[in-house]
Amino acid sequence: TPTQLVDCFGRRLHYLRLSITDLCNLRCRYCMPPEGVEKLPQEMVLTLEELARVARIAVDLGVDKIRLTGGEPLLRKGLSRLLGDLKALRPRPDLRMTTNGILLAAKLPELVAGGVSTVNVSLDTLKPDLYGQITGLGAEAGGPALAKVRQGIRAALDEPNISVKINVVLLGGVNDEEIVEFARLTLEHPLAVRFIEYMPVGRSTPFQPERFLAAEQVLARIRTLGEVEPLPQRPGDGPAQRLRLTGAPGELGVISALSSHFCATCNRIRLSSEGQVVPCLLSDTAVELKPLLRGGADDARIAQALLEAARLKPQGHHQGVLSPHAAGCQMSRLGG
Ligand code: GTP
Ligand code: 5AD
Ligand code: SF4
Repeated sequence: TPTQLVDCFGRRLHYLRLSITDLCNLRCRYCMPPEGVEKLPQEMVLTLEELARVARIAVDLGVDKIRLTGGEPLLRKGLSRLLGDLKALRPRPDLRMTTNGILLAAKLPELVAGGVSTVNVSLDTLKPDLYGQITGLGAEAGGPALAKVRQGIRAALDEPNISVKINVVLLGGVNDEEIVEFARLTLEHPLAVRFIEYMPVGRSTPFQPERFLAAEQVLARIRTLGEVEPLPQRPGDGPAQRLRLTGAPGELGVISALSSHFCATCNRIRLSSEGQVVPCLLSDTAVELKPLLRGGADDARIAQALLEAARLKPQGHHQGVLSPHAAGCQMSRLGG
């Protein structure tokens, strides 16, 4: 049997995205319907021990980068304990997190202690009212919430061992006027700002062509601030195409999830909070681990299920569509 997670197209899957909770304290309009999504009964969600066990087996199969996602991962009870278990894995994986940042300032000490190297903060606007609208909090609550996120970003920037990335999902006619302002942050701070093409994932996020903004349009706006130089791709990097405004301490990234898809170099495999190994963000095939985890399966059997999921990984997508039935998954349960 092979000892590494490799798919049918020779791609080595060494980046595990681990969704540790389906819960979220926001309802971003591109992620969830306005009324939110039903909370999973607690017994449906993997326990901390189950998550750590799957991570250990994945590391044995060559995974060297683990990103905690949600829902909102900072809401998970026992996060410190989970981080402790992940930090103790050998070889020690690069631990990262994608968060909406609301609880970041409060939880930062736990992340530092847990050895998290990078936090990616989802922030689509710097305007208080609009923040309230995009996140479903309402215009009133937008201001205080945005202030918390910005406080979290500042606190993370002050941590010498944590890098910060800001993820901006582009919504044409909603936040595209702010591209320049976001890009300007990289002239002032050593952080990465990544602009992400909106993806029609799941039933709650239908495709709205008028909202779509392609990478080229983004670059044109960034160039109004100065000269832009491309940065080399590093091994283990995520899907962002990296750039820098000449002389800036921070960097920029464009994640063209739809227009020029990066499937050819995809290195990711995902575990949903319910224990499904999901081979591709846009597919709805999955391998169920929970029955194995709770049915007394040994490590070799769990490893076999992970290898099976790797074999199910599709070569790629076409304009966000794999099949007419694809993308039935829920973004909030898969963590993007
Ligand atoms: P780094 O490791 O820091 O580069 O992070 P990342 O870009 O891998 O992770 P992050 O959680 O910040 O995701 C950024 C955006 O990329 C989100 O909108 C994700 O949904 C999207 N994304 C991540 N992985 C994939 C993927 O496999 N396919 C597609 N189409 N989009 C992805
Ligand atoms: N299209 C693109 N990005 C999305 N995210 C959530 N939903 C979508 C979507 N439909 C982003 C979040 C977060 C990351 C995990 O995925 O903003 O940064
Ligand atoms: Fe927003 Fe992320 Fe929560 Fe979805 S899971 S509502 S994208 S913060």
